[in-house]
Amino acid sequence: MITENIYPISMMTRQDKESLLHQRGMMIWFTGLSGSGKSTIALGVERELHRLGILCRILDGDNIRTGINAGLGFSADDRRENIRRIAEVGKLFVDTGIVTLAAFVSPTNEYRQMARDIIGADDFKEVYVSTPLEECERRDVKGLYARARRGEVKDFTGISAPFEVPEHPALTIDTSTQPLETSVAQVIELIQSLQKQ
Ligand code: ADX
Repeated sequence: MITENIYPISMMTRQDKESLLHQRGMMIWFTGLSGSGKSTIALGVERELHRLGILCRILDGDNIRTGINAGLGFSADDRRENIRRIAEVGKLFVDTGIVTLAAFVSPTNEYRQMARDIIGADDFKEVYVSTPLEECERRDVKGLYARARRGEVKDFTGISAPFEVPEHPALTIDTSTQPLETSVAQVIELIQSLQKQ
């Protein structure tokens, strides 16, 4: 029997990757209005995880909507496809043992449930960034709320398109009532408690 040219063809497992990294892969899914603070918290969490020696990856509008999802807009169908692709990409990271932080408006329970189904409920933790609309609109970092009020941006979440409050988030964070460090610490605590499981 010739064995010298036969190589194993199955991919190494998630467990192999997690053992290599000494960590557990998971998806932390931030949902909330535009300007609520999702990406800012994710950036703070990334820095802290890095300091703790935990490998992580942020997925947000800056690297997803300008890249893989560049052709998608904000109709219901495009938002669903946006979330579906993010969840599929996120699953690859989670399966590599990486703590993955997704920061997307993901405005409906249906889209978030789809993401949960794709990734798997055990690996999916929802963080609802509940900063009220008035505060997001006051911040208006990108000037989009003002434009939406003038009718220049259609289907704008919170103004002319719906946002459904998540039903059972693992964590709820209102960035208008606490400093960034507190929000970051809460998410780190959640991640660390799951690392131990
Ligand atoms: S999602 O609804 O498909 O999950 P996503 O998080 O990718 O949204 O993108 C939201 C960001 O796109 C907002 O923070 C805002 O900067 C920008 N944006 C542009 N148009 C809209 C719109 N009509 N509704 C919401 N956000 C918009």
